[in-house]
Amino acid sequence: MHPPAALRATPPGGQHLRPGKAGSAVFPGSAPALAVAEDGPVAEGREFVWSDADFTRIKALIYKKAGISLHDGKHAMVYSRVSRRLRETGHTSFKGYIDWLEGHDGPEWQEFINALTTNLTAFFRESHHFDALAQLLRAKPAHDWRIWCAAASTGEEPYSIAMTCAESLGSNGRYEIVNSDIDTKVLATAQRGVYKHEGSKGLSAERLQRFFLRGKGANAGQMRVKPELQKHMSFLPVNLIHELPLRETFDVVFCRNVMIYFDAATQRAVLERIHRVMRPGGTLFVGHAENFSDARHLFALRGKTVYERL
Ligand SMILES: C[S@@+](CC[C@H](N)C(=O)[O-])C[C@H]1O[C@@H](n2cnc3c(N)ncnc32)[C@H](O)[C@@H]1O
Repeated sequence: MHPPAALRATPPGGQHLRPGKAGSAVFPGSAPALAVAEDGPVAEGREFVWSDADFTRIKALIYKKAGISLHDGKHAMVYSRVSRRLRETGHTSFKGYIDWLEGHDGPEWQEFINALTTNLTAFFRESHHFDALAQLLRAKPAHDWRIWCAAASTGEEPYSIAMTCAESLGSNGRYEIVNSDIDTKVLATAQRGVYKHEGSKGLSAERLQRFFLRGKGANAGQMRVKPELQKHMSFLPVNLIHELPLRETFDVVFCRNVMIYFDAATQRAVLERIHRVMRPGGTLFVGHAENFSDARHLFALRGKTVYERL
């Protein structure tokens, strides 16, 4: 992968060095793998020196930028993901990278956020939500439906919503699905709508046939969402911890498996924002591990992880 031009520039205060393979930069020769950091214990046998202070700084930055609360069990995950950013930007230490990041306003911030989001998703994940959505849609087939998918990731959830709309409302159905995520890289994948065939778990043969084109020749093994679904969909980056750039009033919001990364105060603030862009009586779907009992004045539980906007 080639870094964008802005990232190829020499970082301030240092040459654009390529760190060596594991062991060579920090742990020369065959000496025991022990790196020394100025500020706290470090892990052994790694490519880059890694200290508690590095983790604490990254933790504070991703909380500030994305609301994501990292607990101490995430050291290995953070090391591995942010290491890639060090390599891409030519830094040889976490301290150097973080100092550089904090000292400028460039596109690396987005890359940093993208590196630290977790994007696990699947077609028709938590399928009972799509049964409930189908029921809602069928009850008002002539309605102009506005749906927001607020943590769209790579698009499997948005297209599952779109397939449910097409099946429930028919070819003349009126529906618009706005899809957003903080991570611009996954959002680009979502917008493209091209998936590996082996990733189609969760899709029936009938849905595959009806809603996807199968790649041939150089595209064998891939499948592309048909334009008949995509024409109802738009994609835009939205950070849920900021004021929402959305004007519409939504009938349905999917905000699934993202609130688990937020602390209680952030969850409350996000729920208030979602509440403001929904119409009374609208439906909010959340993830299987999420419940918002202290937002009873905003949303009433109506089913398993299904809320009504009050
Ligand atoms: C585990 S995925 C869930 C995907 C999908 N909603 C699902 O349930 O299958 C969480 C998504 O939340 C996004 N995310 C994390 N923090 C966010 C924020 N502050 N604003 C918007 N999206 C965020 C991540 O980029 C990621 O794609």
